Amino acid sequence: MQITKVKSVGGSLRVPSDKSISHRALILGAIASGRTRVSKWLSSADTRATLEVLRKLGTEITQEGDTVLIEGKDYRFTEPSDVLDARNSGTTARLISGVLSTQSFFSVITGDESLKERPMLRVVEPLRQMGASIDGREKGNKLPIAIRGARLKGISFFNKRASAQVKSALLLAGLRAEGITEVVEPTLSRDHTERMLRLFGVQVETIAQEKGHIVKLRGGQRVHAAEVFCPADPSSAAFFIALTALVEEGELLLKEVLINPTRDGFLRKAMEMGAHIEMLEVRETSMEPVADILVRSGSRLKAVEVRPDEVPSLIDEIPILAVMMAKAEGVSVVRGAKELRVKESDRIRAVVENLRSMGVKVEEFEDGFAVEGQESLKGAKIRTYSDHRIAMAFSVAGLVAEGETIIDDIKCVQISYPDFYRDLTIVSL
Ligand code: S3P
Repeated sequence: MQITKVKSVGGSLRVPSDKSISHRALILGAIASGRTRVSKWLSSADTRATLEVLRKLGTEITQEGDTVLIEGKDYRFTEPSDVLDARNSGTTARLISGVLSTQSFFSVITGDESLKERPMLRVVEPLRQMGASIDGREKGNKLPIAIRGARLKGISFFNKRASAQVKSALLLAGLRAEGITEVVEPTLSRDHTERMLRLFGVQVETIAQEKGHIVKLRGGQRVHAAEVFCPADPSSAAFFIALTALVEEGELLLKEVLINPTRDGFLRKAMEMGAHIEMLEVRETSMEPVADILVRSGSRLKAVEVRPDEVPSLIDEIPILAVMMAKAEGVSVVRGAKELRVKESDRIRAVVENLRSMGVKVEEFEDGFAVEGQESLKGAKIRTYSDHRIAMAFSVAGLVAEGETIIDDIKCVQISYPDFYRDLTIVSL
C-alpha cells in the first residue's frame, strides 16, 4: 500500500465495534442458559476465531447481518473432534482455556505462527492451581496446549501483569469452581468481563484498594442469557483521533465510542498533549459508558510521559500514540510497557524501527522508548511484522509524512478493522 500526505480530514465515522467486548459477548452467550442476542457485533478475523471455536464445542451460533444469536450451552460443551484454532487471537486462546478447564473432556488449542510464540503460562499456571490438567510445548507455555478439565476449586491469584485475558480466564473458570475465585491486580485491567457478567445476572464483587484491585465471584452461579450491544472500539477510533490531531485542518466526529475508564488512557494522553477532543452525549449501553467524540485539528502537540501504572489503559494504543509523540514538541517517554514485546509482534521493536526509518530519533528501552518529536516525518518503507496495530499506526504516520510511505502488508488489518483503508479514504479530504 502506497500512502502520501493528506491536508485535511472531515465528516463522521462509526468505527467497528469493540474487539474485547465482541469476543466476550460470544463466550458469555455460550456459557449462559438461554438465547443471547448480540447487536453490532464485530466480525473480524480474531472474533471469528472465537466464533468457530465455540461452534466446534457444540454451540449453535447464527448471524444475521451484524446481529449474532447464540444458543447457550450452560457450560455443557461437547468434546471437539479436532484441534481448536485460535489463529492470531490471544484473547481467544486465553479466555477459552478458562472455559475448557471446567470441562472434563480433552481438547487442544493451537494458533498461527505468531500466537504459538506468545506466552501461555500466565493463564496455564493458575488454571492448573484450580485443578485443570494442562500440558503443551515448553511445559505448557506455548501453544498447542492440551487441556483436560476437572472439578475446579477457587483460588486467590495475584495478576502482576494486570492482564485482562488472565483475569477473564480465571473468572470464567471460577464460575464452575468450588468456593470463591479472586483476582488481585496492581492496576485495574480492562473490566469488560466483570461488567458483562453482571449483565448476565452474575454477582461479581470489585473492591478498589490502595494496593490494587480485587475482583471476586462465587462459583456455581447461573449465567443467564442477555441482550448485548457492542459499542465502537476506542482502539480503532484512536487511529482517526491521531490522524485528525496531526493533519493541518479539519474536524471529525467519531460516533458511539466506548469510553470505559479502563480503556480511555489514549484519549487522556492525547488531551494532555494538547489535542482538541470533546466528549458529546455520554451515555451507557450494556453496562458500558459510550460517547460521541469530536476531534479538531490545528493544535500544537507537546511531549508527554506514559507511566507504568497508566499502561494497561492504553496498551493497544501505544503504537499510534508513538506516532503522535514523533510530531510533538519535546521528548516523550513510555516506561513499564514490557508487555508490548509479547503482543502480535514485538511492538517496542516495531515502533522504534519504523519511527527511525521515518527519520525520528528514538531510544529503545527494554520496557518502552523515548521519542524526540520533530516538525516533519519523512515517508519510508514500513515493516508491519503482520501486526494490525503497527500497520494502522504507520499508515496514519504515512498520511502526515513528507513523500511516499509504503506499508509492506495490509492484510493484517483484518484482525480488528477489515475496512480500515476504506474508512481512511472516506474521511481524508
Ligand atoms: C485484551 C487484553 C489485553 C489487550 C488485548 C485484548 C482482552 O491483553 O492487549 O488486545 O480482550 O482481554 P492482556 O490481557 O494480555 O493485557
